[in-house]
Amino acid sequence: MECKIAVISGDGIGPEIVREAKKVMDAVAAKYGHHITYTDVLMGGASIDVHGVPLTDQAIADCQAADAVLMGSIGGNTSTSPWYRLPADKRPEAGLLKLRKSLGLFANLRPASLYQELKSACPLRDEIIGDGFDLMIMRELTGGLYFGERKTVEENGVQKAYDTLTYDENEIRRIAKRGFEIAEKRRKKVTSVDKANVLDSSRLWRKVVEEVAKDYPEVALEHMLVDNCAMQLVKDPGQFDVILTENMFGDILSDEASMITGSIGMLPSASLNDTKFGLYEPSGGSAPDIAGQNIANPIATILSAAMMLRFSFDLDQEADAVEAAVQQVLTEGYRTRDILSEDAKQVTTSQMGDLIAERIK
Ligand code: IPM
Ligand code: MG
Repeated sequence: MECKIAVISGDGIGPEIVREAKKVMDAVAAKYGHHITYTDVLMGGASIDVHGVPLTDQAIADCQAADAVLMGSIGGNTSTSPWYRLPADKRPEAGLLKLRKSLGLFANLRPASLYQELKSACPLRDEIIGDGFDLMIMRELTGGLYFGERKTVEENGVQKAYDTLTYDENEIRRIAKRGFEIAEKRRKKVTSVDKANVLDSSRLWRKVVEEVAKDYPEVALEHMLVDNCAMQLVKDPGQFDVILTENMFGDILSDEASMITGSIGMLPSASLNDTKFGLYEPSGGSAPDIAGQNIANPIATILSAAMMLRFSFDLDQEADAVEAAVQQVLTEGYRTRDILSEDAKQVTTSQMGDLIAERIK
């Protein structure tokens, strides 16, 4: 198969973790006879440094011309990096939001499951972990507070800022459908998360999700308030199958979910539109404090590449092989620093990539 991949290495640890994911993709291509071409695309701080803006029209066009985008991470230290002295719409994160919107990537899938080998890295007590957990956050990605009107004004000498949270029923319906579709292939339960006791947008969310649920009679639907969900994730994570939620709630809950897997360095993500096209990135950030030290965990990025093989290229066997290789190195006791435990073998970012790639060959 011909695979055209746009690669956004980005900032911080981005280039290091993307390098390892490409290593693994190349191992897959060699073993299964695929041909991959990579096109490098600048975004975030890396683009600001060259073009003065976090995302150029050419960069968007380069992504559109590819079958899928592999991304590392963007952004720097918000207190010290000069990128954060720029107006908000010129900062690194604005590039990512613009790309998500331009490519129509409304469905963000963030799976979080506990590897038995990483139980000791999980901050929850054994009796809470039980048999572990395996959940999927389906986060709406192109609406809500992230894309509503915002402004900072001064009224009678008083500064005032506002952000607006808007959803129309069509935006809710299309993400809800995705949530139910994925639940059908899993354990057939959707927990729709909102703040319907306070927000109008959440009341509409709940109503539309209930309508959509009628088309998926075999999937059980429950509603949960977001504050309760934050609590339930650390109290009994095993109760969740698919968590369906809006943009901002999904942003927050997915960081929480990642932490209970042991490390944010383990969590992949896929951002999809209505076609096979997708953007694949680790759920974690650019970690500027450890950038360039070859110690970051590349597994989330490698698992994101596996999601790309599965969702954009329909290469299930290859995706399974990548996931199995990750499982194997963990079973063999190799760990990057973030998931290190006693009597594990500590490896660098590049060694972890080598070990996983070798297990595919
Ligand atoms: C994420 C990140 C982004 C978000 C930032 C970098 C804009 O936190 O992908 O979760 O808030 O969506
Ligand atoms: Mg986030």
